Amino acid sequence: MTKDKRELARRQDKAPIATAWDYAPAPEARDIVKIQERYGLFIGGKFVEPASGERYTTIDPAREEPLAEVAQAGKADVDRAVRAARDAFANGWSTLRPSERAKYLFRIARLLQERSREFAVLESINGGKPIRESRDVDVPLAAAHFFYYAGWADKLEYAFPNRKPRPVGVAGQIIPWNFPLLMLAWKIAPALAAGNTVVLKPAETTPLSALLFCDVLRQAELPPGVVNIVTGDGLTGAELVSHPDVNKIAFTGSTEVGKAIQKTLAGTGKRLTLELGGKAANIIFDDAPLDQAVEGIVNGIYFNQGHVCCAGSRLLVEESIYETVIAKLKRRMATLRVGDPLDKNTDVGAINSKQQLDKISALVQSGVDEGAEIYQPPCKLPERGYWFVPTVFTNVAQSYRIAQEEIFGPVLSVLTFRTPDEAIEKANNTPYGLSAGVWTEKGSRILAMAQRLRAGVVWANTYNRFDPAAPFGGYKESGFGREGGRHGLEPYVVLDDA
Ligand code: NAI
Ligand code: MG
Repeated sequence: MTKDKRELARRQDKAPIATAWDYAPAPEARDIVKIQERYGLFIGGKFVEPASGERYTTIDPAREEPLAEVAQAGKADVDRAVRAARDAFANGWSTLRPSERAKYLFRIARLLQERSREFAVLESINGGKPIRESRDVDVPLAAAHFFYYAGWADKLEYAFPNRKPRPVGVAGQIIPWNFPLLMLAWKIAPALAAGNTVVLKPAETTPLSALLFCDVLRQAELPPGVVNIVTGDGLTGAELVSHPDVNKIAFTGSTEVGKAIQKTLAGTGKRLTLELGGKAANIIFDDAPLDQAVEGIVNGIYFNQGHVCCAGSRLLVEESIYETVIAKLKRRMATLRVGDPLDKNTDVGAINSKQQLDKISALVQSGVDEGAEIYQPPCKLPERGYWFVPTVFTNVAQSYRIAQEEIFGPVLSVLTFRTPDEAIEKANNTPYGLSAGVWTEKGSRILAMAQRLRAGVVWANTYNRFDPAAPFGGYKESGFGREGGRHGLEPYVVLDDA
């Protein structure tokens, strides 16, 4: 045997191992974004001082540096925002010609495209996600959502044939920090298309893209009060939920807070949609195209540092291909570049907050303590900032916390199965039901699996793929209601008989 052949036999694979992949730094310029020193609340079409008088500092999680002072809205502020939204609803927006509403939404979509670089850089600075993702995923998808729902605005009677759709009223919308601008778009676009007005609360760690979005609203000349943005933490969110003049609440975030909101709203007649956590199974059968599947596994769990409610955080591999898949996966993980979110070569950016980093670290420790086998590729992390090395756990029992709880970080737990029935049973063995992935060459198997998986979204031979036309949402503790597509309009319309 020649030396090379011995080497190949040793590696048990013909693909070359990436050894020294050195990339020159390729940082995106930060100065395209002007961050103000302090921000007020966006109410009635302009920035106002918070009556609460309170502010807090929002930071760059990759550098642990302060970025701006942001208002912490109190009860009186939330009330002012809801009144502005009610005025706008009653005095024009809800009765505006639908094609006129569409015009504003189209304008917003185009402005987001025009200013996409600015938004992408800001999103990466404030949230820690790689610029490659904010530039190629978050911002284009946010614009696409506005385009998509702009198209529905004057066709609602076709969306709901033989019914007379009318708007619900004032919508209170609360969003998380993992996709700040995209979640804003998911919430605001369908609400406005259907003639509602909005009070939106961004997550406390990532308010800046929502505050920049207020400038887009100004450019689009959206009538004052149609969209109001109140920043603050969970207390602000709770004020919005319990405000008596809000007709509908839309929430994306933790299952814990979702449950609390549902309790508060019980019996009030207010409408509610909840998009909560997940612990999705990504299922790989032995006939799957393995190299593609490995890309799908990596994209499924390491995309956006794993801060993804539909992340493929439980890998279910058919036993016969287990060794091969794990070997390929580990080799692929070694090529992931962790670091500066603004570097165009970065694959995995900063963890969003100290709090989230602590949560991830604690759950990973529990995996080690319970007896799972941990693998982390060699990886040099920046000295400052919040970072976590992409991690995979093998030897995982279904009862371990890392197989049951949402980690919301770059941590994958691997389980195996022998038959499709066993795969289904394990996949569904969770309180959640948001998403799943199936990798196989057989179309019939894809359909059979999709039918039996209790998950709102099932991806086949792909993962984490989004389209504004496709409804998204959960079963069980992942919440209820759908966002995206025609289904995404339903929570925002009252249907009378025609
Ligand atoms: P969270 O659910 O506390 O925060 C989400 C949003 O809800 C934020 O805007 C927050 O200010 C607001 N909020 C908090 N308490 C509230 C209350 N009582 N009433 C109304 N609004 C309230 O989530 P957090 O603490 O940021 O993250 C904790 C865990 O939740 C994460 O580790 C992750 O597992 C999960 N999570 C899931 C998300 C998803 O997309 N499904 C998004 C964010 C977090
Ligand atoms: Mg919380």
